[in-house]
Amino acid sequence: MIRTVFKGSGSALPRRVVTNAELAKTVDTSDDWIRERTGITQRYLAADDETTATLATQAARAALENAGLTIADIDLIVLATATPDSTFPATATKVQHALGGSGFPAFDVAAVCSGFLYALGTADSMIRTGMATNALVIGAETFSRILDWEDRATCVLFGDGAGAFVVGAQDVAEDGGPGILATQLHADGEFADLLYVDGGPSTTGTVGHVRMKGREVFRHAVTNLAQVLRDVLAKAGYAPGDIDWVVPHQANLRILDATARKLGLSMDKVVVTVDQHANTSAASVPLAFDTAWRDGRIAKGDLVMLEAMGGGFTWGASLLRV
Ligand code: COA
Repeated sequence: MIRTVFKGSGSALPRRVVTNAELAKTVDTSDDWIRERTGITQRYLAADDETTATLATQAARAALENAGLTIADIDLIVLATATPDSTFPATATKVQHALGGSGFPAFDVAAVCSGFLYALGTADSMIRTGMATNALVIGAETFSRILDWEDRATCVLFGDGAGAFVVGAQDVAEDGGPGILATQLHADGEFADLLYVDGGPSTTGTVGHVRMKGREVFRHAVTNLAQVLRDVLAKAGYAPGDIDWVVPHQANLRILDATARKLGLSMDKVVVTVDQHANTSAASVPLAFDTAWRDGRIAKGDLVMLEAMGGGFTWGASLLRV
């Protein structure tokens, strides 16, 4: 059977690191408060010459190199972002051009922090139905551009960055073998007012700022993530104990901890980068994956659960045999 297999990953971060202490000079907050409530110690923030497209291109180049492929081998780019360079064209087309590609489909998906799961699910479907052979799947964000830097309840939580996977079609045995084994995606627009941006091209004609009811988002996140993880495991015929690594959306260390506890998983199996990167929205899952892939924690043959939850609400999970 044709399955979508992982071929390589890459990531990119802006040059500038901003610690909690540095942030506390301009925002009414403290290193202690941010660490205790979120686990975040620092984040990377984009300079004027660093955009979602430049970070995405850098991550994509690294992923191609890691996969041992070039842009000539790619026939699809799906890029997840809530902070595109422009309302249109899609940031994916900018990345395609910057990499020297042309002709093949390249488009953005918008599912905020779950965006990478949605992008990967889309690429997986297109690969398994023969519409693409090798895809670049990218999550890239410059959330710093849509933060209200006077709202301490949100601006301390986010950072900028990008991560990318190269995935491709491979004929594998039905049972066993590498590839994406199961994916589940969800959305529920009823909860749009708990996490949203108060602007947009068709409403205010502005970009807007992130608004969030943090406590309520927290509660929904733990419940929805634990359920979708269980569902994806059941769909693929595995149990929580079979997972080698969970690569969660890096929103808050307490959400990661509470979700792992609900599933009876040890935190030793959870990749944590939120302390270094903060919440990079759609970039966070591939950024965290790439960190653990390059430092050797995630190895070929490992069973890895990718999961995320974000504004919408949207949420999802994907089980991957690397
Ligand atoms: N520094 C210092 N104090 C802050 C602060 C900051 N950066 N942000 C908020 N506070 C204050 C609040 O004003 C409030 O003060 P009050 O009690 O005097 O009114 C107090 O801290 C508690 O605020 P609350 O929002 O209830 O805190 P919390 O324990 O729920 O933690 C979050 C806040 C945002 C860290 C937490 O709700 C959270 O992580 N939610 C999930 C958010 C998330 O990950 N979203 C993205 C999902 S994709």
